[in-house]
Amino acid sequence: MSARFGVYFHIPYCLQRCTYCDFATFVHTEIKPPEFYVERVKKEIFQKRQLFPARPVDTIYFGGGTPSLIPAHLIVELISELAKFGYTTGPSTEITIEINPATVDEKKLEIYLKAGVNRFSVGAQTFSDRLLKMVHREHNAEQTLQTLDLLRRYNLNFSFDVLFALPTQTIDELRYDVSVAVELGSKHISPYCLTVPEGHPLSKNRPLDEEQLHMFDQIHSELLKKNFQQYEISNYALPGFESQHNLLYWTDAEYWGLGLSSHSYSKSSPWGSRFWNLSNFDLYTAQADRALEISQLSEYDSKQIENLSKAQSLTDYCYTSLRLNSGLSVENLVQKFGPKTLDLVLEASSALRSKGLIDYDGRNFKLSRAGQMISNQVFEKFTFFDSDLG
Ligand SMILES: C[S@@+](CC[C@H](N)C(=O)[O-])C[C@H]1O[C@@H](n2cnc3c(N)ncnc32)[C@H](O)[C@@H]1O
Ligand code: SF4
Repeated sequence: MSARFGVYFHIPYCLQRCTYCDFATFVHTEIKPPEFYVERVKKEIFQKRQLFPARPVDTIYFGGGTPSLIPAHLIVELISELAKFGYTTGPSTEITIEINPATVDEKKLEIYLKAGVNRFSVGAQTFSDRLLKMVHREHNAEQTLQTLDLLRRYNLNFSFDVLFALPTQTIDELRYDVSVAVELGSKHISPYCLTVPEGHPLSKNRPLDEEQLHMFDQIHSELLKKNFQQYEISNYALPGFESQHNLLYWTDAEYWGLGLSSHSYSKSSPWGSRFWNLSNFDLYTAQADRALEISQLSEYDSKQIENLSKAQSLTDYCYTSLRLNSGLSVENLVQKFGPKTLDLVLEASSALRSKGLIDYDGRNFKLSRAGQMISNQVFEKFTFFDSDLG
């Protein structure tokens, strides 16, 4: 089997800015139009294509922002531009687009489907109009219902984002959100716990930490009752509907991020390299306009690339694989980093295992349910330094 490979396109246009959002996105009327932007992204494909020599693509993901807001033919153009340079897609390629309620109609849907889009991620968050208004979402619950109805009529594979621990949100409201999302045919659910910095307007009147854990636990048990399986800390799917694109991120596969603020991962340097695009719209588009072809990573702007050391690579590997319910496989760990690293991971996990936060059966390290609830604290223990590796 050839190594898996995915492409991410960032589409930074939104109808409005939600109060909690920290992504590189803009109100669509406040930046240059999508036609202008997409032309720069096409240039970027041309300029950087040698960093990921042409190959079939396993997954494409249009994220944002609100990709469904821009004219659908621009989405098609980006898929065609990839194909033009040998990044081919076929029936087994998972092509996902994030859509927001009230931004898709039958006409758009038909254009997506014809281009091979076969997965839809619905940014609906909640069915409570009160909460939607509070966080400055543009749509209401009725529009979400209409969008889900449209997807169902076409018998499509769709995922649903649930936002929880919002100020004043009750557990009953959350349970209702999850049950309606499931009843209406979601094959995949991603619950997100609201994250805002201290002092943010939405940081007041939120459920307390303990209540937040209880909310997460409620979502978990509701979904398991409905035959969903948790495959990653914050992702649940009916069997066979796991997001192949997200799995790439967590299983050490290469991915190419195109567009504003996108991140890429290449394995062409000894321990892998991460590189990224600028988050400022004018600077990103100017860079795409100016740039020449890049034939290897050493030509990449040094402020936008990090070549990983073995210790950094091991740290990343532990963080990402422990996010998955399948856990960190000893066989894969030893194959990539050598047998001595098993001792390091055993040592790093020792106290966590005695506290019941990590389970280890001799073949895989896995977060226990308790470990998942405080995963960031657990991951910290798997931070390695070059001195650790001798
Ligand atoms: C970047 S958004 C893009 C999708 C779409 N524009 C939307 O808002 O639904 C992807 C998901 O991230 C989640 N998200 C964004 N900001 C967040 C925050 N501050 N805390 C928790 N989740 C957040 C939302 O649930 C959203 O569906
Ligand atoms: S619609 Fe999504 S990407 Fe746009 S501002 Fe709201 S949360 Fe952010």
